[in-house]
Amino acid sequence: MKILLTGAAGQLGRSLRLTLAAHDVTACEHGRLDIADLAAVRTAVAAEKPDLVLNAAAYNRVDDAEADPGPAYRSNAVGPRNLALASREVGAAVVHVSTDYVFDGRGNRPYHEYDVPAPRSAYGASKLAGEVAVRETNPRHYIARTAWVYHEEGGNFPRTILSLQDRDEVRVVNDQVGSPTYAPHLADALTTLIETEAFGTYHVAGSGQASWFDLTCELYRRAGVKTTVVPVTTDEFPRPAERPRFSVLTTIQEPRIVLPHWEDGLAAFCARLDKAA
Ligand SMILES: NC(=O)c1ccc[n+]([C@@H]2O[C@H](COP(=O)([O-])OP(=O)(O)OC[C@H]3O[C@@H](n4cnc5c(N)ncnc54)[C@H](OP(=O)(O)O)[C@@H]3O)[C@@H](O)[C@H]2O)c1
Repeated sequence: MKILLTGAAGQLGRSLRLTLAAHDVTACEHGRLDIADLAAVRTAVAAEKPDLVLNAAAYNRVDDAEADPGPAYRSNAVGPRNLALASREVGAAVVHVSTDYVFDGRGNRPYHEYDVPAPRSAYGASKLAGEVAVRETNPRHYIARTAWVYHEEGGNFPRTILSLQDRDEVRVVNDQVGSPTYAPHLADALTTLIETEAFGTYHVAGSGQASWFDLTCELYRRAGVKTTVVPVTTDEFPRPAERPRFSVLTTIQEPRIVLPHWEDGLAAFCARLDKAA
């Protein structure tokens, strides 16, 4: 398949470059293609004439988006809409990656694909706007919601928490529960999904569920870190953007695309870090 990959330098973009090796991929980093620039998107897509446009680009600075939502909407709504439009114009399918933050997190069971989104943050609203734009612009779409993504390279929670291992104690939120997702596992799942031609919305996140506290304890255990991990509440850690309290993603969609358990993702992440050290 001929694929135009955008956001190719991010955590997911880097992982996809490996999992899509069997395909003919043109990988565009931000500097090469700004997805919020419609003319540039149309030119790139018309030149490549791909079978599929796979968008791994996004604005993920959740707290910054609260004070200034403009950049989030440019990259998370206008950009995906541009890609959906340009892909439709050449008869290509499009993949939009979305987030658990489209849900309000007030439920007490995992969210499936048919649950109704109700974002509580500007970031979540911008990602939902991207979903809506893609759905209404190109019927040949896959919308893949994921969560809590991390990779050996990139800014993410496991890397940040590992960087604090020289402290005697770290305090970590224990009342936000989600689906930690290892970027290479997500990339594998998307690589399977694009072969299905079963267009629609999918939840593609690590299996199982964990709080940030659980994730930290398991990461430190695997990495042999002795730092004490103290559970705290969200209220003790006020942030500009509201986070969902419970945003575990599950899937009821067919065909079923199920990712490995989040602990297996963490094991693979630690093994890669060990190998790199
Ligand atoms: N990270 C998470 O925890 C998480 C959770 C749920 C869902 N997701 C979704 O998963 C997908 C992949 O996320 P990720 O973690 O791989 O993100 P990432 O590591 O932050 O990478 C995103 C990439 O997109 C690029 N980008 C931003 N705006 C762009 C634009 N207008 N045009 C072209 N490129 C642009 C960024 O470039 P610059 O660095 O130059 O801006 C960066 O290279 C995204 O859709 C994200 O919303 C992520």
